[in-house]
Amino acid sequence: MSVSKVIVFGAHGKIGQHVIKLLSKLDYKTTAVVRNDEQASTIQKLADNSSNVSSTNLTIDEASVKDLSGSIKGNDAVILTVGSAGKNLLQVDLDGVVKTFEASVEANVKRLILISAIHAENREFGEKSQIRDYYIAKHYADRILIDEFSNKLDYTIIKPTHLTDDPSTGKIDIIKNLNEDVGKISRTDVAKVLVEILNLKETYGKSYNIKNGSHDIDNPSTYEA
Ligand SMILES: NC(=O)c1ccc[n+]([C@@H]2O[C@H](COP(=O)([O-])OP(=O)(O)OC[C@H]3O[C@@H](n4cnc5c(N)ncnc54)[C@H](OP(=O)(O)O)[C@@H]3O)[C@@H](O)[C@H]2O)c1
Repeated sequence: MSVSKVIVFGAHGKIGQHVIKLLSKLDYKTTAVVRNDEQASTIQKLADNSSNVSSTNLTIDEASVKDLSGSIKGNDAVILTVGSAGKNLLQVDLDGVVKTFEASVEANVKRLILISAIHAENREFGEKSQIRDYYIAKHYADRILIDEFSNKLDYTIIKPTHLTDDPSTGKIDIIKNLNEDVGKISRTDVAKVLVEILNLKETYGKSYNIKNGSHDIDNPSTYEA
């Protein structure tokens, strides 16, 4: 089934806002998960008041799996670009995100794209980081998605390197080697990746460490292997 209805958690965030702008210009029906009415009105402005974009108020650490699944139901895909910026790692980046996996299964919505962080799969990388707790939360959220949900969800994990607010380049590299320079990536390009792979079956069940580079975001071969 192709994806046409998408719910975006973290829609008012920096990457989230780029995602909403992109989706609003394409043929998607989008629900933006925001935290208050002021954020909802920002989203409407971003989407040029498109009738294809609506908002719902939810705070994932306070919401139950049932609340989350009620919002997810009726969509074809979930994009998770939430993050507590280190302020509430256990409740948001770990438990909030895992509750959303459970809610997606409960709502019978299989396609799910999660934003994690560069090399979150590698404990040694996280151990050397200044933000070790952040890496622990990202590592276990990803690991639970892979270990417990791979037969229930068509997931893709996107792990960007250091984010910037630079303009889009439209190009990325998939980082395959721990020793490779991790570079940087603009949030607009991360948003482009999220939208580009929504319907790309080759990316199901896969995780990608990404930075700006030389491969076209809109070329499916970029995501091979
Ligand atoms: N900074 C980096 O270099 C870097 C690198 C790799 C990956 N990442 C990851 O990329 C993701 C997005 O980055 P970004 O720059 O777009 O971050 P951001 O601007 O801080 O956006 C995060 C979004 O999550 C929302 N959020 C936080 N707690 C929530 C909760 N309890 N319930 C519902 N929504 C909640 C925020 O809402 P409010 O606006 O209301 O707070 C915001 O909309 C994060 O997961 C981050 O960890 C960051």
